Amino acid sequence: MSRIRFFISLALFLFHNFLSNSSRTTEAAPTYQWHDCPDTSLFASNSTYRSNLNALLSSLSSAATNNSNGFANATAGKDALDRAYGLFLCRGDVSTATCGECVATATKDILQRCPDRRSSLIWYDECTLRYSDQSIYSVMETVPLETIPDTGDVAELDRFVHLLGEAMNVAAGRASGSESGKKFAVVEASFTSSQKLYTLAQCSSDLKGSDCNTCLRAVIANLPQGKRGGRSFTPTCTVRFELFPFYNTSAVTAAALFPSSPPAPVKGSEDPDKRRQLDWSRRYKIVSGVARGMLYLHEDSRFRIIHRDLKPSNILLDSDMNSKISDFGMTRIFGVDQTRAKTNHIVGTFGYLSPEYAMRGQISAKSDVYSFGVLILEIISGKKNSCFSQSDGGENLASYAWKHWRAGTLLEVLDPLISNAYSIDEVVGCLHIGLLGVQEDPADRPMSRPIFSGVNHLKFG
Ligand SMILES: *[C@@H]1O[C@H](CO)[C@@H](O)[C@H](O)[C@H]1NC(C)=O
Ligand SMILES: *[C@@H]1O[C@H](CO)[C@@H](O)[C@H](O)[C@H]1NC(C)=O
Ligand SMILES: *[C@@H]1O[C@H](CO)[C@@H](O)[C@H](O)[C@H]1NC(C)=O
Ligand SMILES: *[C@@H]1O[C@H](CO)[C@@H](O)[C@H](O)[C@H]1NC(C)=O
Repeated sequence: MSRIRFFISLALFLFHNFLSNSSRTTEAAPTYQWHDCPDTSLFASNSTYRSNLNALLSSLSSAATNNSNGFANATAGKDALDRAYGLFLCRGDVSTATCGECVATATKDILQRCPDRRSSLIWYDECTLRYSDQSIYSVMETVPLETIPDTGDVAELDRFVHLLGEAMNVAAGRASGSESGKKFAVVEASFTSSQKLYTLAQCSSDLKGSDCNTCLRAVIANLPQGKRGGRSFTPTCTVRFELFPFYNTSAVTAAALFPSSPPAPVKGSEDPDKRRQLDWSRRYKIVSGVARGMLYLHEDSRFRIIHRDLKPSNILLDSDMNSKISDFGMTRIFGVDQTRAKTNHIVGTFGYLSPEYAMRGQISAKSDVYSFGVLILEIISGKKNSCFSQSDGGENLASYAWKHWRAGTLLEVLDPLISNAYSIDEVVGCLHIGLLGVQEDPADRPMSRPIFSGVNHLKFG
């Protein structure tokens, strides 16, 4: 009896040991993500390329066991025709030991997943391994570009997208500007009081800063929208965001992102006292500041940003009447080459939405230009666009201003409460720019740069 019990407890003991051993190895094993075997060129298993490749992979594997940079390149083969080039990159926060294990696994795995290929690459959470029969050192790649979304949808989409855009912007800037060996940055930001957003950006350490930046822009523009997390990557760079820490937070210094505290919003223009305080030079300064802000968002910022909700309450004024565009809750960040997008989710404020956006969900910089046009007309006329719709049988601020333009009485649009000095050229010039902005066809509306120079030219012209 006691003998049986002894055997049972021995068996349980061994079983437990087996379980804990196997779970230990699972913890250490790198987490596979994706691989790419371009199906162009093959090699024979008895070829010189094959033996060079074997030498390359084994030298990368041993380099990784002893490499604190998390990056190394190697070449194998004397004859250029049969030479193999390769490199590995480990995530910026992983230890040398983890990096070494990941690369060792990758060198075996890649030959199984991509047998006989003259170039291949494989991605894990912890490392990336690449080889080719061409030199790949310091060559930026934006294809293949792979995006892997998490499954859960995010609550408060607009605020999340705004925060994510800002965090990614900072992470990309820090990673590509990094002077240290690693082109790696993480940025953490509070999403809600209990939820933190974790973001990571990394380029292959051999890339130039400018190439790193270009690569990161491409992957950021392809991040999954509306998800709680996800990643996108190319052979030479990667970005990832999650609402949980997915890197070793004690091994890295994260940049924290604090939302800037806003000054007071522009008050509605219906209050006569407020309107009298806003004399022409102040209104002109606001118009000019918003034009500058819009130009920055559309063309001068690192990413093309479409605000989507330009309106008076989103224009912040400091005590010197310097204006600043705020509330990026609805912004959409465009990749460099993308100028238009379509959405089924219309956000924004009625009265300021361009017709193509309101009706067909088409977003472009020109939809912001439309809102800007409405905003200028409101600032100059002292009338709110929303006051028109009921009383005037379909007329709105834009058609009211166009009517005066056609009748040659444009100055009558100017707020009668602006009693003191104003420049007729400035008023008429700003009204013209506003009118150009509210045209039905987006193709007829000017871009942000001519708007900005137009508004400023009035001051000096
Ligand atoms: C490789 O093997 C194939 C047949 O298996 C043979 O025809 C070829 O000559 C071999 N090539 C070399 C370089 O040994
Ligand atoms: C690790 O690197 C150092 C310096 O680069 C070298 O002296 C040492 O032999 C290496 N150790 C192994 C195990 O490769
Ligand atoms: C890494 O690549 C560079 C550029 O091609 C080369 O000069 C260097 O020798 C390579 N390093 C190794 C270990 O192959
Ligand atoms: C995280 O980083 C710290 C500091 O480098 C290290 O001591 C710890 O072992 C790491 N944790 C993991 C799970 O790698």
